[in-house]
Amino acid sequence: MSAETFKRIFQASPVAVNFTPGRVNLIGEHTDYNGGMVLPTALPLGVTVAMSPCTDDNLHIWSDKFDDIAHRSLKDKATGHWSDYVTGAVIIANEMGLLSGGANISLQTTLPFGAGISSSAAVTVGVLKLAREMAQSSLSDTEISVLARRVENEYIGMPCGIMDQMAVAIARPGQALALDTKSLAYDLVDLPNDYHMAVIHSGVYRQLNEGRYKERKEECDTVKSALGHDDICLITDDEFASLKALPDVLLRRARHCISDHRRTVKSVACIRAGDYAAFGQLMIESHASMRDDFEITVPKVDRLVDDAVCFGAIGARQTGGGFGGCIVACVAKDKLEAWRDALLAVHPDAYWVA
Ligand code: GLA
Repeated sequence: MSAETFKRIFQASPVAVNFTPGRVNLIGEHTDYNGGMVLPTALPLGVTVAMSPCTDDNLHIWSDKFDDIAHRSLKDKATGHWSDYVTGAVIIANEMGLLSGGANISLQTTLPFGAGISSSAAVTVGVLKLAREMAQSSLSDTEISVLARRVENEYIGMPCGIMDQMAVAIARPGQALALDTKSLAYDLVDLPNDYHMAVIHSGVYRQLNEGRYKERKEECDTVKSALGHDDICLITDDEFASLKALPDVLLRRARHCISDHRRTVKSVACIRAGDYAAFGQLMIESHASMRDDFEITVPKVDRLVDDAVCFGAIGARQTGGGFGGCIVACVAKDKLEAWRDALLAVHPDAYWVA
């Protein structure tokens, strides 16, 4: 399918094609740049990337979302254009010796943009994995994820953690990635067969590079300076007590990081033990912590989460960077359809994603 489209656009065959999924984080938010655990899983939706190399420094990037070709160069800085993610990934691939020159690249995506389900990570990881394949390099998926994060941090200027890139590079639907973001060690955890992790878009659109994510990151940086190390998530209750001279808002930011990390560790144990009710409760607590301590939710999403639980989900929470986007809810499969219809009937702007 994508190879045909590629031929139509570029009058040449792609040398390599791959599919990278989007991700939904089940629990552990804003812990990935504070030394903590996260628990994302892959979605069935994702991005198909096809590529052929160019002999010069030019990039020609087509996306089905815009049905447009962007013409970029390896010398380009980020401009805020949708093609920045591909351009940044090709620049890093050149820096690593995985490519030498530009490329023709097509993107076909089933992921909605701005939903917090990692369309940008799927694009950067997809491009870097294709470059790895073309170079027959032995870089691991973890190393590819680290490079993809560099595209965000250094090229785009988005100071994100490593969760999204690792999730889309490694997780598969039906399994969650229990990732220690400090060591990058991970385990795959089977998700229950009789529950669905439903992803519903709130209808509130957000862009992480608009500044509020950065603000939280900077607040955490101030806490890190006070602590003398970067691992806010891992501090003991005594170490937390030693921070009491900090302003209340920073203490609440730190408390969220610590508590959401601990809830993520517990969630892995609950899922492994088959105690999904306890996992659901941890999701509900995680949302309250994002609402009250980290302050990254908005009232419309709070109501959607409350109603998701009222209508029968055993747990629900906002997922991703925050300020809108999607919620994730754990719902018994035999109740899923009725639950979805009831929820969407009272939230006309919300819609089903996966
Ligand atoms: C975004 C970032 C991630 C992570 C989440 C919040 O998705 O890209 O690195 O920080 O927000 O958990």
